[in-house]
Amino acid sequence: MVFMFEQATTQVLLSALFFFVIIYSPREASSSRIASFAFAPGVEENSEANALLKWKASLDNQSQALLSSWTGTSPCNWVGITCDVSNSVSSIILQHFGLRGMLYSLSFSSFPNLHKMDISNNLFSGTIPHQIGNLSNILYLDLSNNLCGGSIPEEIGCLVGLNLLNLSNNKLSGTIPFIFGNLTQLTILRLCTNRLFGSIPSSIVNMINLNELDLSKNKFSGSIPSNMGNWTKLNMLRWHTTRLSGSIPFSIGNLINLNDLDLSRNNLSGPIPSCIGNLTKLTRLYLFKNRLSRSVPSSIGNLINLSELFLYKNKLSGPIPSTIGNLTKLTMLHWYKTRLPGSIPFSIGNLINLKELDLSENKLSDVIPSSIGNLTRLTILYLFTNRISGSIPFSIGNLIDLNELILYENNLVGPIPSSIENLTKLTILYLFTNRLSGSIPFSIGNMISLNEIALYENKISGSIPSSIGNLIKLTLNLLGKSIPSELGLLQSLQILDLSCNLLTGIIPTTLGQALRLETLNLSHNNLSGVIPSSFCEMMSLTSIDISYNQLEGPLPDIPSFRNATIAIFRNNKGLCGNISGLTACQTVKSDSYDPKSRKIMLRVLLLTLGILLLVLFVLGVAYVLRRGKRNKLNEDSEAQSQNVYFAWGFEGKRTYENLIEATEGFNNKYLIGEGGCASIYKARLPDGLVVAVKKFCSMLDGEIPNLKVFTSEIRALTEIRHRNIVKLYGFCSHPRLTFLVYEFLEGGSLDKILNNDTQSIALDWHRGMNIVKDLECEAHISDFGMAKFLKPTHPIGPHLQAPSVILPQLAYTMEVNEKCDVYSFGVLVLEILMGKHPGDIIHLLTSSLSTNHNLASKDLLDQRLSHPLNPIAGR
Ligand SMILES: *[C@@H]1O[C@H](CO)[C@@H](O)[C@H](O)[C@H]1NC(C)=O
Ligand SMILES: *[C@@H]1O[C@H](CO)[C@@H](O)[C@H](O)[C@H]1NC(C)=O
Ligand SMILES: *[C@@H]1O[C@H](CO)[C@@H](O)[C@H](O)[C@H]1NC(C)=O
Ligand SMILES: *[C@@H]1O[C@H](CO)[C@@H](O)[C@H](O)[C@H]1NC(C)=O
Ligand SMILES: *[C@@H]1O[C@H](CO)[C@@H](O)[C@H](O)[C@H]1NC(C)=O
Ligand SMILES: *[C@@H]1O[C@H](CO)[C@@H](O)[C@H](O)[C@H]1NC(C)=O
Repeated sequence: MVFMFEQATTQVLLSALFFFVIIYSPREASSSRIASFAFAPGVEENSEANALLKWKASLDNQSQALLSSWTGTSPCNWVGITCDVSNSVSSIILQHFGLRGMLYSLSFSSFPNLHKMDISNNLFSGTIPHQIGNLSNILYLDLSNNLCGGSIPEEIGCLVGLNLLNLSNNKLSGTIPFIFGNLTQLTILRLCTNRLFGSIPSSIVNMINLNELDLSKNKFSGSIPSNMGNWTKLNMLRWHTTRLSGSIPFSIGNLINLNDLDLSRNNLSGPIPSCIGNLTKLTRLYLFKNRLSRSVPSSIGNLINLSELFLYKNKLSGPIPSTIGNLTKLTMLHWYKTRLPGSIPFSIGNLINLKELDLSENKLSDVIPSSIGNLTRLTILYLFTNRISGSIPFSIGNLIDLNELILYENNLVGPIPSSIENLTKLTILYLFTNRLSGSIPFSIGNMISLNEIALYENKISGSIPSSIGNLIKLTLNLLGKSIPSELGLLQSLQILDLSCNLLTGIIPTTLGQALRLETLNLSHNNLSGVIPSSFCEMMSLTSIDISYNQLEGPLPDIPSFRNATIAIFRNNKGLCGNISGLTACQTVKSDSYDPKSRKIMLRVLLLTLGILLLVLFVLGVAYVLRRGKRNKLNEDSEAQSQNVYFAWGFEGKRTYENLIEATEGFNNKYLIGEGGCASIYKARLPDGLVVAVKKFCSMLDGEIPNLKVFTSEIRALTEIRHRNIVKLYGFCSHPRLTFLVYEFLEGGSLDKILNNDTQSIALDWHRGMNIVKDLECEAHISDFGMAKFLKPTHPIGPHLQAPSVILPQLAYTMEVNEKCDVYSFGVLVLEILMGKHPGDIIHLLTSSLSTNHNLASKDLLDQRLSHPLNPIAGR
């Protein structure tokens, strides 16, 4: 028996099969065994039958039904049971029976001749009994895919004949017993997907006959034993997703029979040893998600049988060795997010079997070698977020199987090569944020599989050619842009998804010309104006979603609108129509929504408004100057002589005292935040209400503003009931003590979150978008309209801290209205995108409206976060 296993060096399954054919074929039955059981066969048989029947009786109803053949005294023809020539049970094979029960009621000592026990893929629970150590002749023990818990009994370490031990996919905890080192005959050891912890006992290296070792998905700590080199017969080593630390031992170079090595998702550090090049039989090398550093050794080029090389998410800081060109059997090369510098070697063109090439999010510079055109089997080419320059090679047109071409955020120049038309299987084309120029090739229309195109932030001129009209499905990524009117030319377009793009401006009338459009999703944008009347032509439209925009006016009278529910219209500015949840439209002359006449009307209105504002401004300045002088004389003395206190929603004076009491006279232990010239305290009032009290250091350097205007303004603020404006309960103003009382919000201020890197990254793009979209992590604007009362140089609040951020109009009219709302929303959006307060930008924009179009929005984005796009979001 032993000699057979020594031969089983490579294909384990094959060897196992080989083994059983020999063991269980009657021809080969050993005569010595017949002899040994000739003494008391009846006893053996009966005790075996009894043991099995007892076990059956302990199982649940259904399981017992499944074992209905288990009756009588001779188990040899029962389902799942095999006997040897002496009629003693030699195997119990009950895999995939759906049996439910425990193992402790099985008397293991009743089966002295059991060689194989496979009860995998059932519902056995409870602990593995110590008596399992009585299976003294067991060679094959498979309890995998059950619900067994507890720790692994040490007694298994006594089953020294074991050839296969599979306990994977259970709920086992505890450590691997040291005594397991005795299992030197093991060829297969699988303990993966359990809850085992502790370090692997050093004795494990004694299992010198191992073919397969799988310890993955446990909580093991510690490091790989440095003398792992004794496992010279190993051809599969999976030790991923544990907490393995330390470095990869040099002795790994001895495992020359290894063809599958997976040490991914651990905490391994240090370099990849150059002796890895000895493992020439490797077909799969997974080292991703570790902390491996330095260069990948050039000896990697020796692994000529390699098919999958996954090195991503490490700290590998050296360049790609040019020897990579030797790996001609490679189908997948995933080497992203590892700090990779240097260039893509020309030799990459040798990897003619490559299907997936992902070198994104590195520091690669230089050009895309033209040899890339040799990789004709590529389906995925990700080179985004690098420093690659030069132009997109013309040879890209050879990659006729390509599905996704993602090259964004590089320094690519020149035109999009016309050869791209060859890529008829391409579904995603992301080239944005480069310096590509020229026009979009007309031939792009030949790319019949194209779903998503994103070309923004380039120097591409011209428009989307009408040839693109072959497109059926298009998801455009146009973050922050307006809807291109050319989209209406996409005569074949059936599905158009522009949702969640922060699109601004109006819906172009031409969109109504996309007559075959069936699905249109414009939701979660910032679109304004009315729905063009041209939509009435879109009779194919069956699904539309325009929710979460700023749209107004009546709904077009087409079936897709008539039959819709409020869900697809909600959160707009003023849509009306015959849908429950919407207000009915007031009867207007139908032509008043004609876009042309509306435009003229708007212009006239704006002009009038402009003149009016100018007049008001002049008058206002004169008035304020005059009043300011007079009031200062009248009220300075008044202010200094008395406490000025106002409170609405409170009971006046008592609350003032309560506040002082609740904060123990503004004791620092209630301090929850500090701004430029204000401190925020949390106060719990006697009635349980928790409020935020914002105390200013001093108000206007002792200056009190026009009190009447001030109080009426505060009153207006307290009356605002908008769910995204922090409710102001009241305030107190005194030359020495000035504070505002707000509704208390748990999250703290956005400003604070964005100023803190860790929290800011946690507040990733998705949640950032949600703040903007008003969905999940809702933003609340405080200090709404308050900034104007304070000195321009004194920032008071997270959102409206400098006067440049206040809607200029507000400063003159002292009126809180919807426009402030819109303006503040804009500021909020910018703050989220930039990761800081956009004060400077806004100042720039408002001070010279016409000259700042070349502000790159990329520079504005929060540099701490990666780009918010699908390929990344999917990881
Ligand atoms: C089988 O299960 C049912 C209910 O689940 C129970 O009433 C019955 O007594 C069980 N029979 C046996 C033999 O355990
Ligand atoms: C079964 O194993 C236990 C130890 O686990 C031992 O004490 C006992 O004697 C064994 N029984 C037989 C019948 O071998
Ligand atoms: C493991 O290998 C070392 C040499 O590398 C040797 O000294 C030792 O005896 C080996 N252990 C076994 C169990 O073979
Ligand atoms: C493994 O590779 C190293 C060099 O990388 C070499 O010196 C050593 O002899 C190799 N060992 C085996 C067993 O091939
Ligand atoms: C397009 O693909 C064909 C192979 O299908 C190739 O022969 C041709 O050169 C390619 N054209 C361009 C412009 O790359
Ligand atoms: C439109 O897109 C949004 C965001 O992607 C999604 O939540 C919504 O379900 C879509 N609407 C329809 C009708 O599919």
